[in-house]
Amino acid sequence: MKSFLTISLFVIIGLITAVLVGFRENLFAENIPYDAEQEGLNQQIIIKFSHVVAENTPKGLAALKFASIVKEKSGGQIEVQVFPNGMLYSESQGIDALRNGDIQMIAPAFSNLSLLIPQWLAMDLPYAFPNQKAVEEAFNGEIGAELFRTLESRNMKGLAFWSNGFKQMTNNRNPLISPEDFKQLNFRIMPSEVIAAQFRLLGARSTPLAFNEVYRSLLTGTVDGQENTISNIYTKRLYQTQNYMTLSNHGYLGYVVIINKPFWEGLPKQAQRIIRQAMEETTAWMNDQAVKMNQEQLELIRHSSDIKIDELDAAEREQWIKALEPVYRQFAPIIGEPLTSRIQSLRKKYIESAD
Ligand code: LMR
Repeated sequence: MKSFLTISLFVIIGLITAVLVGFRENLFAENIPYDAEQEGLNQQIIIKFSHVVAENTPKGLAALKFASIVKEKSGGQIEVQVFPNGMLYSESQGIDALRNGDIQMIAPAFSNLSLLIPQWLAMDLPYAFPNQKAVEEAFNGEIGAELFRTLESRNMKGLAFWSNGFKQMTNNRNPLISPEDFKQLNFRIMPSEVIAAQFRLLGARSTPLAFNEVYRSLLTGTVDGQENTISNIYTKRLYQTQNYMTLSNHGYLGYVVIINKPFWEGLPKQAQRIIRQAMEETTAWMNDQAVKMNQEQLELIRHSSDIKIDELDAAEREQWIKALEPVYRQFAPIIGEPLTSRIQSLRKKYIESAD
């Protein structure tokens, strides 16, 4: 009799527990609108995404947009936590943290990868891209594919290329119109041997500094100038520390969005699909947005500061191109002949079509 009572008690407790757990799971399920993409996603997935720029820049906005699309598509099952302004890591620390799996996503400017993978120097070659179309062809064609492949053996997986824009020169001493105007100036640069060589050819010095140190270094005169996109110059108020800006479009600053490879490979297929779709939507939006933001923020700089802005005419630009041409020969063996040739052919195609 005693054992009958014990067994009955166990059965009743078991039934109550099953009903409660089942009910709770149903409640959880009811909170999430049904979406076929979510099947198989039972646990919340957290993705920490670190970057160094302000939120109201092309990259800052794209990271937030990506997070919100992922949240919507996954019904909240995948959460992308965005850490802007270098609040977690500087660019180089971010790359290490990603490779170690401390964070899952980053979107560094190409130059920041070049210390680790010299092929990325290709994207810093001066005047490589005559216009945004050429940039997009590089991103979406064989150049982009080859660069993505270089990430795979280093614990990284490339998900997308994001645009920012063409770089412009600023400094404190004099207008920069001809290559001679650079003599003896010291420029803050991203850590890229190609960019260092570019300034050497112009007779200037350069100092690699993390992005978050640029404002202070310009303000205190540690460096005289820097090169960057309008959106970075505007949102970090670099223009307030400088007297002259030349709209030179001499180089391109773009990003590669990278996810930690073992993390990616461990994700359920459904999560990978959601991330890929969200990335595709974000990238299309971002590439449009970046061009608009750089144009709008140039007008904001014009109207809110005394910085003198010069534009190079065709003959002046030719002088810069000629002065910087030796970088191609110098770096072809480091970047690799096929990639350098691809960049040169692309450049030629867009110069010739003047499109
Ligand atoms: C810079 O260091 O100037 C850029 O890499 C910043 C950025 O991420 O746009």
